[in-house]
Amino acid sequence: MNFKQELAAILYDLLDQAISAKELELMIEKPKNQELGDLAFPCFTLAKLKRKSPNLIAEELKEQINSPIFEKVEVVGAYLNLFLNKKAASEKVIHDIISQKAAYGALTFGNGGAVTIDMSSPNIAKPFSMGHLRSTVIGNSLAFIVEKCGYKPIKINHLGDWGTQFGKLITAYQLWGDAEKVKLNPIKELLTLYIKFHKEAESNSTLEDQGRSWFKRLEDGDEQALALWKWFREESLKEFSRIYQLMNVEFDSYAGEAFYNDKMDRVVKLLEEQQLLVESEQAQVVELTEEQLPPCLIKKSDGATLYATRDLAAALYRQEEYQFVQSLYVVGHEQSLHFKQLIAVLGKMGYDWSKQMHHIPFGLMLKDGSKMSTRKGKVVLLEEVLNESIAMARHNIEVKNPNIPNKDAVAKQVGVGAVIFHDLKNNRMNDIEFSLEEMLRFEGETGPYVQYTYARASSILRKANVKVDVGALSYENTWEKEWKVTSLLMEFAPAIKRACKNFDPSQVAKYIIDVAQAFNKYYADVKILEENAEQQGRLALVYSVTEVLKEGLRLLGLEAPAEM
Ligand code: ARG
Repeated sequence: MNFKQELAAILYDLLDQAISAKELELMIEKPKNQELGDLAFPCFTLAKLKRKSPNLIAEELKEQINSPIFEKVEVVGAYLNLFLNKKAASEKVIHDIISQKAAYGALTFGNGGAVTIDMSSPNIAKPFSMGHLRSTVIGNSLAFIVEKCGYKPIKINHLGDWGTQFGKLITAYQLWGDAEKVKLNPIKELLTLYIKFHKEAESNSTLEDQGRSWFKRLEDGDEQALALWKWFREESLKEFSRIYQLMNVEFDSYAGEAFYNDKMDRVVKLLEEQQLLVESEQAQVVELTEEQLPPCLIKKSDGATLYATRDLAAALYRQEEYQFVQSLYVVGHEQSLHFKQLIAVLGKMGYDWSKQMHHIPFGLMLKDGSKMSTRKGKVVLLEEVLNESIAMARHNIEVKNPNIPNKDAVAKQVGVGAVIFHDLKNNRMNDIEFSLEEMLRFEGETGPYVQYTYARASSILRKANVKVDVGALSYENTWEKEWKVTSLLMEFAPAIKRACKNFDPSQVAKYIIDVAQAFNKYYADVKILEENAEQQGRLALVYSVTEVLKEGLRLLGLEAPAEM
């Protein structure tokens, strides 16, 4: 039970059960300023109920509350402000962390329900874009966060491995391709071919027809077409896998668009049976007039299926395969309309579970204020960016700590972590400016700053060389100086819950920055390693901070090096 719940239980009894404990809990606030107390209860609702002034109610409650968990109760206007008993509260949270370790902060409201997370989903034969990077980083963190809340995450890489572009690519490869070049540098080479196709097509109108007919052959299962497609896919995946390995991201499924080829007939049939499919400009569409959306294109005039058709099949498949309680699509906001249409069509088909589908949009990655393009002139390969970040991290670490062991491993954890943290620390809808110098700073709100704080706290524990263990410790502390830190440690679970409910990892990122800042301030003010009666308590606090920082970093997809 947390302190909010305890206060709610106390009020529930005092108020003769007039308002449920659950409702009371929701009414309890946390004052912005700690000088005003640790919890606040506004008395407006009660005032209406009891026809008394809110201030009078607050005064009455103040007289009645008599619990060892509060050391002081004050009334300010309509508010009842409560100050936790620092000693009892601090010792409880530290005891909780030491006994639960990485499990501290875990919640159970997910009840084991499956949450599918459509994430990353790059396109075969195209570069891994900054948008795909954001989707990967956000999706991966959401997976850890929902898991921490008791759900079962299923990470799906919905690869863009089907569509008319493959007809064009095969055409281009047949005309100008070189197998050796493709093997050497698959994505770069395939992209060059694709761009050449479009350039040539401006003056040669037969190319588009050839592209269409190759795609038709592909859809009809032509062996030659399929073999090329398979090869492009494999080569591209090899390249993507290197990026995923760098970032430590794994998937539960790589079922991409092509996976649904044999599952779309059924969707079309279902739509026909429900008379939802209508002819419009020679194509088959679902009208979404009531929903105030443009019609959703299901089948082109030549019978070819579309992105939306495959997403409809995928949604049905995911519901049947995983029985998701929530289905997330972490995709840039430019696809908002597509997901609105998708969800609307499924709603029209009578699937109630379409209400459990959520598009999780995010903003752009900017460089010097404009969109970071993977195509302008030369290709910005994400792998190069990550490697550059690792090299810079390595340099920074060498300056700070030249004798550090496992330099390469730590440089990777810090370099990649910096990119991930920079992405996640802002609300995901914000555009973010890509600046390696900025993300790799050891001060300010960066990944390296939090990692460095973790390493610093770990080194204190190494130096002290005591085993932090429940029961073995006795605390002589008043916990006054520690209060800023210990009261923050109590906020871990609420921050995780907010992150989960809003699909917003920045709640966790901001939280661990706060913890790191509070800890560094404490570290500057207090001689932690000084041997006296308070030392055990202080070390227990340092240990608790390492546990929370490490787990917080993990929830974002970052590692915590013990030394850096
Ligand atoms: N491959 C698509 C793109 O790069 C993203 C796919 C998103 N997922 C989905 N189920 N539509 O734009």
